[in-house]
Amino acid sequence: MLEHTFFWSMPASECRIVVGSGITDTIVSSISESKTGLIVVGSGFLESWKTTFDKIEGRLPAVRIAEVEDGEGLKTIDSYSDLIRVMRSCRLDRDSAIAYFGGGTLGDLSGFCASTYLRGVRLLAFPTTLLAMVDSSLGGKNGIDLPDGKNALGTFYNPSTVIMDVDFLKKGIEHQSQGIAEIVKYGLISDPTILDVLLSFKDMQSMVESQETADLIYKCAMIKMDIVSKDPYEISGEREFLNFGHTVGHAIEKASGYRLPHGTAVMRGMQIESKVLSKILGKKDTVSGLVADVSRRYKIPDIEIGKEMHQSLIDAIRFDKKIRSGRISVQAVDKPGSCKNVSLPLEKYLEVLETWLKEN
Ligand SMILES: NC(=O)c1ccc[n+]([C@@H]2O[C@H](COP(=O)([O-])OP(=O)(O)OC[C@H]3O[C@@H](n4cnc5c(N)ncnc54)[C@H](O)[C@@H]3O)[C@@H](O)[C@H]2O)c1
Repeated sequence: MLEHTFFWSMPASECRIVVGSGITDTIVSSISESKTGLIVVGSGFLESWKTTFDKIEGRLPAVRIAEVEDGEGLKTIDSYSDLIRVMRSCRLDRDSAIAYFGGGTLGDLSGFCASTYLRGVRLLAFPTTLLAMVDSSLGGKNGIDLPDGKNALGTFYNPSTVIMDVDFLKKGIEHQSQGIAEIVKYGLISDPTILDVLLSFKDMQSMVESQETADLIYKCAMIKMDIVSKDPYEISGEREFLNFGHTVGHAIEKASGYRLPHGTAVMRGMQIESKVLSKILGKKDTVSGLVADVSRRYKIPDIEIGKEMHQSLIDAIRFDKKIRSGRISVQAVDKPGSCKNVSLPLEKYLEVLETWLKEN
């Protein structure tokens, strides 16, 4: 018998990330230098930034533009096949790139199309919401929903370029507060000065108007990429730090039938996870008060978890795709900026959560 074994480590992909304001020249040159054959633009962004986008389009006469109606309803198999058909009609080949201007929903769809079309064409990301800038455009996750599961189909595939022009945040202000939860998360798991900056703004409007916002987003992007680069495919466990607030947050979203938006649910999720874990570990909860302060500042509504939601919340956590061999990994924030991953028996965690829900 003969048996050969060898280990091959795949080269990491390279991603250029630019954060700034008033950087449409950088956007245009990155598109013209990258053989971009198609730009997909979200309707919400286009409605607010038509004049700016028309100028960008005017400087790129050879590139096809497709406008799509964005929002969660976009992440379907039908939209996936529609966009693939458009890519085909543009005759994109393996040397081509596609680009998108939009929030997390368009980014997730475009990333999934880019990664599967001809087994992968380059992707340029121009995120236009706060959530997309600090989170969804970074780290390579993409995907679409199935009728019985959010993000049930997807791949890991990094864009070659991500360019964030924070000026794009100045309109559609009602959508932007959904990105605050992720910024709070970075402050709690890695860099507490982020929380000071967040609390130094009067409200959402003054945040998006501030010259400091590009630096804040840049810091968040560096934290996310630092974690992701140690665990690009969610294997070693390093990436679990990014789940802080998300296990309970996702369960709240699911238990509400997805009526509650992601950022609002994660704000509540961070508070509940912190309270439950402090009970289990017998430690002080150093998180909830801070999260509540930020929620008030950015007018993020506090979610009441009514009795009727308890069972569906518990069930959603029990069947969470991150549960492994009956254990749940939760993030313990000892003090803002210092976080550990803790593995616990799932049933023990659910028991304490259930008791906490009943008492509160
Ligand atoms: N891939 C990941 O790692 C990851 C991480 C977090 C969230 N997500 C996904 O992100 C999605 C949510 O993203 P989102 O919050 O950006 O929502 P979204 O993409 O639905 O955008 C929110 C709304 O803002 C509008 N909009 C976008 N840019 C605008 C602008 N500059 N000015 C005015 N309006 C604008 C859009 O038209 C839309 O109506 C969810 O589907 C979630 O699953 C993905």
